[in-house]
Amino acid sequence: MVDVLKVAKNLRNALLVDPARFYTNDVGPWVPGMPLPNQVRAGTGREPLWLNLGYWRDVEKVDENNCERVGELFPAAQSQMAHLLAKTARLGEGQTVLDCGFGYGDQDILWAEKYKPARITGINVTPTQVRIASERAKLLGLDGVIRLMEGSATQLPFGAGEFDVVFALESALHFKTRRDFLREAFRVLRPGGRLVMADMCMKTDREAGLTLRRRLHLRYWRGRIAMPEANMWTSHRFVSELGQAGFQNARLESIALDVYPGANTAFTALHSVTRMQREPGTFTMEQVRANVKKAREMDPNQLFWHMQYNTDEYGLVYAEKA
Ligand SMILES: C[S@@+](CC[C@H](N)C(=O)[O-])C[C@H]1O[C@@H](n2cnc3c(N)ncnc32)[C@H](O)[C@@H]1O
Repeated sequence: MVDVLKVAKNLRNALLVDPARFYTNDVGPWVPGMPLPNQVRAGTGREPLWLNLGYWRDVEKVDENNCERVGELFPAAQSQMAHLLAKTARLGEGQTVLDCGFGYGDQDILWAEKYKPARITGINVTPTQVRIASERAKLLGLDGVIRLMEGSATQLPFGAGEFDVVFALESALHFKTRRDFLREAFRVLRPGGRLVMADMCMKTDREAGLTLRRRLHLRYWRGRIAMPEANMWTSHRFVSELGQAGFQNARLESIALDVYPGANTAFTALHSVTRMQREPGTFTMEQVRANVKKAREMDPNQLFWHMQYNTDEYGLVYAEKA
């Protein structure tokens, strides 16, 4: 029987397109065990609570022979994404950083410890994430370097020219709107400063000529993950929007093949392993391995993100303020 309340809740969420609500009620960290937001604790401060899809190029990928270790392999790829952004930004000692949409703060802890910037200021719309990430930074003795606050990347409470680097790690797809964020990022960067983002978009315009039914389908699913329609850009438009915001040397490098297939296999492994634990004796390790093998062999053009959201591109974005 159709669960009417659940359908109504999903429809309402799709219409609200509210990231704070989404990350407070629906989505917690993606490993280990994919807890709900209200189950997340600061713990020792070191438990991985990442929320990005991972950068799978130089790490062990999940497959049918190692899928029981997905809880360890997924965070390794997610931290690689943070390293990729840091290296792209030439992050180094003494710099001032603004991190927009920091999740539970994993990336700020990693950047503070490995790249030694003078200060990392983080801004995030989800209050529970701000609280837990701040507790973690304090537990690790990093609260002198990392300062995290509630607020929106589209209305930054900072003066002009305060930062050397602005990051948005898989967060700007949610901003209302991404264009407003680019304008704000440009304002708060000092001359010579860099904006670096990891973000989803489209390789080419996949929206033109769609049937009404298909449009509604995409709108519904994008709304469910709190992605505003105004952010449905092609990679070409993305670079042109950076230019219009005032940035120079703007580029978007496609890393889609190093993100989506790896994440797809990892999510399949997580769901299958969880199901095996919930249904012992019914759902076996053989079935987990079969599911993971099938996911690994999927056509990269038919993955979830392409079909449900139309976001077949995943870009590593770089731009400078002259
Ligand atoms: C997919 S998560 C990525 C989190 C983190 N970067 C990571 O890799 O684990 C997106 C994040 O963007 C934040 N966010 C969404 N809209 C925002 C906004 N307007 N301003 C600041 N943060 C926002 C969410 O609260 C969430 O923390």
